[in-house]
Amino acid sequence: MIHDFVYDIPVKVYFGRDQLKNLGPELKKYGKRVLMTYGGGSIKRIGLYDKVVKEIRDAGLELWELPGIEPNPRVSSVREGARMCKEHDIDVLLAVGGGSTVDATKWIAASACVDHDPWDFFDYDIWAPVKKALPVLDVLTLSATGSEMDSGGVISNPETKDKHGRMHPLLLPKVSFLDPSNTFSVSAYQTACGSADMLSHIIEVYFNMDQDLYMLDCFMEGLMKTIIKYTPLAIREPDNYEARANLMWASSWAINGFIDGGKDLAWSCHPIEHELSAIYDITHGLGLAILTPRWLDYCLDETTVSKYVQFGVNVLNINPEQPPMVIARQAIDKFSSVLFDSFGLSRTFPEVGIDATHFETMARKAVNGGVLNGFKPLRQADVVKIFEACM
Ligand code: NZQ
Ligand code: ZN
Repeated sequence: MIHDFVYDIPVKVYFGRDQLKNLGPELKKYGKRVLMTYGGGSIKRIGLYDKVVKEIRDAGLELWELPGIEPNPRVSSVREGARMCKEHDIDVLLAVGGGSTVDATKWIAASACVDHDPWDFFDYDIWAPVKKALPVLDVLTLSATGSEMDSGGVISNPETKDKHGRMHPLLLPKVSFLDPSNTFSVSAYQTACGSADMLSHIIEVYFNMDQDLYMLDCFMEGLMKTIIKYTPLAIREPDNYEARANLMWASSWAINGFIDGGKDLAWSCHPIEHELSAIYDITHGLGLAILTPRWLDYCLDETTVSKYVQFGVNVLNINPEQPPMVIARQAIDKFSSVLFDSFGLSRTFPEVGIDATHFETMARKAVNGGVLNGFKPLRQADVVKIFEACM
């Protein structure tokens, strides 16, 4: 059935090379006291830090900084950011970096408006409501998560070994600056991981047996073909603007809500992967790359095969004049080859240091003690089998 839906993505995007001049005026709309957040230093190495600080100073704004936001950002960074916001009476937050920095900043924005600990937003037993958040703007430096245009953020708690994501419309960035040239310095590995993440965001929505809007399926197929085409080029030629621009805009549209078309379907590979990165701190896109082909394989049967045929023929150019199961198997093989050969990512858990020690725990947490109602319903035992296939 084609669902009713609301389309509302109120994020202003400045896309392109020469847009940073708009940063000061945009920040000014939200106040005078700015907290700028960033990661481990890549923005200094590429000269972006100096440019951003100049725009802020030229606009006559006051600036505080929170560096050191980790990949798989930790709740401790959110705590520190919230503390700074309260102490310095911050008006507006500016995240400069990849998805981790943007995610942490969104949750700093919400945590600055409450008295409780930030982890209360993520603890399943508490699930503190989000009622208010400071405005967040961002300058994106890595194409992957789509955090620049979505309302979600994922935070890790090393003490409890949990990594939880949560969405709220108040967390949508007000303005995102997307300059593809800021991603020229992204390593081949992070480029590949980012693209695997984008593909997964689309696959989580595309693979379902509910009737879709045909135009959205075509749109998703176009996005997937774009990512598959331009990722190897960006890896070969890191400063290829066309490749970086296509990946950057694809990352935003893969998860900004447009492709959902009103479907309220649980994702499958993401909750499973978050358990991997919670325990092993591996790169999110890498975990997804290893899991996704195995999950596709696990979910394939006579009731789902038609979706694989559509994917194989329309996205991967597989010959349609073959039996459906043959096309489906070829689609999984070809998709694996995209991730592991064309993108160059590791194929198995042992290659990235994961053994079977935590399979049961991670599987139980991934299904939250019950059933993950995605493309195919998955219970703990199913997730363990998918893990085993990754060995
Ligand atoms: O910390 P710095 O020094 O900036 O280095 C980062 C980091 O080491 C580096 N990097 C970023 N931009 C760069 C660069 N290196 C060179 N040149 C540049 N221009 O790349 C490394 C990874 O950065 P990170 O921000 O962690 O990567 P990503 O954007 O993939 O974010 C991953 C996080 O986002 C979450 C993931 O779970 C993970 O925690 N996700 C967020 C989502 C959302 N908000 O909707 C959805 C996703 O599914 C995902 O779960
Ligand atoms: Zn993701």
